[in-house]
Amino acid sequence: MPRKAKTAPLSPAMIMRDLMGAWRSRALVAAVELDVFSHIASGKRTAKEVAEAAGASQRGISNLLDALVGIHYLRKSGGRYALAPISAAFLVRGKKTYAGGAVQPFSLTWGQWEHLTETVKTGRPHHAIDDAEHGKKFFPQLVEGIFPSSFAAATAVVSRLSSKERGAIRKILDVAAGSGAWSLAFAQAIPEARVTTLDFPEMTPITRKFTERFGVAGRYEYKEGDLRLADLGQATYDLVILGHIIHTEGEKHGKELLRKAYGALRPGGKLLLAEFMPNDARTGPSMPLLFGLNMLLHTEEGNVFTLREFRSWLKAAGFRKMATVPTPPPATVILATK
Ligand SMILES: C[S@@+](CC[C@H](N)C(=O)[O-])C[C@H]1O[C@@H](n2cnc3c(N)ncnc32)[C@H](O)[C@@H]1O
Repeated sequence: MPRKAKTAPLSPAMIMRDLMGAWRSRALVAAVELDVFSHIASGKRTAKEVAEAAGASQRGISNLLDALVGIHYLRKSGGRYALAPISAAFLVRGKKTYAGGAVQPFSLTWGQWEHLTETVKTGRPHHAIDDAEHGKKFFPQLVEGIFPSSFAAATAVVSRLSSKERGAIRKILDVAAGSGAWSLAFAQAIPEARVTTLDFPEMTPITRKFTERFGVAGRYEYKEGDLRLADLGQATYDLVILGHIIHTEGEKHGKELLRKAYGALRPGGKLLLAEFMPNDARTGPSMPLLFGLNMLLHTEEGNVFTLREFRSWLKAAGFRKMATVPTPPPATVILATK
């Protein structure tokens, strides 16, 4: 007779791990803010040396470094610290792959997360950022931190286009452009492409900084205004980009934006839509589902939407073909054709 497999007794360990998630996160933020990974990379190996380099107390740094060993960002041997491979690859400032800038977008949200219980009760954000007045202040602080992940995904999309598809892209509209992360990958790969961005006037200096850094500023034009009110034009563009904007806009304004994007494209033109999407049953992955809570905290109507929802909205807006494009996580990218 086959023996029944023994199941492990249920334990509350997962609860403790998740309650401590915020501590883990704060330890990582403090380490990035004090630049301890860069100090260790530059040869500071003891708590005393790192404390001096970081301008911090030795007591504080000792405990921080040990905690970072505990959560696998550092290694320790005989009182000397070394970088774990993940820290060496992504947390040393000045490296091309530096990901420490991602601390900023998360840090920006913390104040709101303290109000989650109250927000779940009311269904209303404690401090919304999806109106022009607050958005103009919030987003300029956010977009540089999300640049690396948007740009990596955009680069992956461009690399998958055939030369015929690239050849058909000359006029690009980057709606809610922020740093310009999505269109910059296209402008860099297609020297004939010209880009119009649309965002709040407060964003223009940031977008300009990035276009100059990439050496493509001469091919960019900056339209300033509120995308809910802006006329996107008719049958003008070969590519319209909606990168991480529908989650703040919500269903009603998001559908309206898809209709306007459709109108702005010439026949055969493409829409690039990038969003964090849970599966159709909304049972995972955890990142987009937690991001849905983040939208509850920050917006009146924002949310995360599934691929099935986007497909039906795109179809209703008139798009005839659509496909997802493999990109590095966490965003999902859809290319839809008019
Ligand atoms: C989450 S950021 C995305 C930036 C960029 N597309 C990316 O994916 O990295 C949202 C952008 O939308 C802009 N935005 C939000 N609401 C807007 C509105 N009503 N009118 C114009 N721009 C808006 C913000 O200023 C910000 O640049």
